[in-house]
Amino acid sequence: MTAVRTIAIATDTPGWHGRRLGRAFAALGVDARVVSLSDCRIDLEANRYGIVIPGFEGELPDGVLVREIAAGSFEQVTLRLGVLHALAEWGVPVCNSARAVERTVDKSMTSMLLRRAGIATPATWVTESAAEARGVLMRETAAGHRIVVKPLFGSQGKGLVRLGPGDALPDEAVVQGVYYLQRFVEPGAQGGRDYRVFVIGGRSIAAMTRQGADWVHNVAQGARCESAALEPDLCHLAERAVAAVGADYAGVDLMRTADGTPTVIEVNGIPAWRGLQSVSSEDIALRLARHFHDRHLAVARSAAR
Ligand SMILES: Nc1ncnc2c1ncn2[C@@H]1O[C@H](COP(=O)(O)OP(=O)(O)O)[C@@H](O)[C@H]1O
Ligand SMILES: [Mg+2]
Repeated sequence: MTAVRTIAIATDTPGWHGRRLGRAFAALGVDARVVSLSDCRIDLEANRYGIVIPGFEGELPDGVLVREIAAGSFEQVTLRLGVLHALAEWGVPVCNSARAVERTVDKSMTSMLLRRAGIATPATWVTESAAEARGVLMRETAAGHRIVVKPLFGSQGKGLVRLGPGDALPDEAVVQGVYYLQRFVEPGAQGGRDYRVFVIGGRSIAAMTRQGADWVHNVAQGARCESAALEPDLCHLAERAVAAVGADYAGVDLMRTADGTPTVIEVNGIPAWRGLQSVSSEDIALRLARHFHDRHLAVARSAAR
């Protein structure tokens, strides 16, 4: 008989996702405890790991499911990610890994990795120079394209701006000194909408379309969710995108260009799934918990400890 596994669900606001995950892990016989990464600390004197995870009394969890990393100063976020990196150094499975989280939070890194893997994604430019950005905007609009400006670390459709001919760039302060510009994917015959495909362990498990009142189709911006079939071309691209960023699981945003070709807009390494769950018959939390269990807990504890 194997001992009961005790894992941490990293989040500051457990809410609906925390409850669903807690129930799913309990069904698998895993004791899942909610931990706030901002309460974790490095204490070289406290125990042999030098890491203190509240609720684990000098021990380390058997795994960490990263559900949320709260926003904070550069230093705070670095420490929170550092705790995840440190746990991984001790052989604790962390899912998604700090590296995958870093790669997906930074939209420029995601764009580069997608391009490097040969995955369709719109033309993208990232620069600290307002003059460079202005040049891109002028060239692109002259060629008949519109441009989306996104916060480098944005989420939930916040802070996106769409620019056309004659429009001015947002101020440097608004974009925190980094201009992330992307060619706008003009809606095709099916109208403006996008797709969210949820990938776990390399396989697409659920999909939906999202349709907002305007062109930003995030659930957090009020988009309407509709269940969608797992269309092979979208799923294949989504699965390759998740592999390209090295994530265990992710929510991939895709669109179809006017000729129907799928293109990847974003890979979310800490995806929410409440909207998707509302239109999906799959128990997403259970699929995630089962993947985590089978992939990371059902194996012998790492020799590193
Ligand atoms: N290049 C683009 N062309 C058309 N629509 C876009 C583009 N980029 C983003 N969008 C729309 O804005 C939404 C939010 O953009 P996304 O890059 O996913 O940022 P966030 O992290 O805020 O979700 C997308 O789901 C899509 O509906
Ligand atoms: Mg998105």
